[in-house]
Amino acid sequence: MSTESNTDLLKTMTCRPMLERDLAEVVIIEKAATEFPWSLKNFQDCLKAGYQALVFSREIDEIIGFTILQKVVDELHLLNVCVRQELQGRGIGDFILSFIIDYAKDSSFSLIVLEVRVSNSRAQKLYSKVGFNEISLRKDYYPALIGYEDAILMGLDLLVLPFTDDMNNKL
Ligand SMILES: CC(C)(COP(=O)(O)OP(=O)(O)OC[C@H]1O[C@@H](n2cnc3c(N)ncnc32)[C@H](O)[C@@H]1OP(=O)(O)O)[C@@H](O)C(=O)NCCC(=O)NCCS
Repeated sequence: MSTESNTDLLKTMTCRPMLERDLAEVVIIEKAATEFPWSLKNFQDCLKAGYQALVFSREIDEIIGFTILQKVVDELHLLNVCVRQELQGRGIGDFILSFIIDYAKDSSFSLIVLEVRVSNSRAQKLYSKVGFNEISLRKDYYPALIGYEDAILMGLDLLVLPFTDDMNNKL
């Protein structure tokens, strides 16, 4: 087992566009990490549709996480984010979300939105931690083992600036 610290791990992370040749590995990571994984075709369709698909690595060609984003006018829709199962809980999800938020701010998006299963409390905690708020509930949005499961629609408003000391002094 690696003795690499979380800080060292995050320092060496790089990001590049997801390519067709990455999909076999991406599907393996997705299947191991989630109970309801996307299929190979789901990922292929996203690449064909020109969605922004990024892979995160710590060494050349070792994918440790990925995300799929869709631009909808001035909104960025976060369609998928996943971290290799054995590396979860080490700050990589946080790193990827912070990267997405910085990118969205730099590209002048006004809002990032996403849906998350009500049962996926781990992902919900991560989203809340980086500033997402619950917007509404989508009833029976996802297929479940039995029937359907609700989704929580979450959003991060990028036009609302944090209240800084500087602003405080002007009041
Ligand atoms: C959700 C996911 C991306 C988080 O990635 P990660 O690398 O494990 O997350 P991090 O280590 O950066 O942790 C960030 C925060 O997530 C939450 N979190 C992480 N592991 C958790 C756990 N075991 N239980 C509860 N919350 C947890 C915490 O709020 C944590 O912040 P903290 O460490 O300050 O408490 C990852 O679990 C994953 O790939 N899950 C499967 C795919 C998925 O569900 N994607 C979301 C679809 S909407």
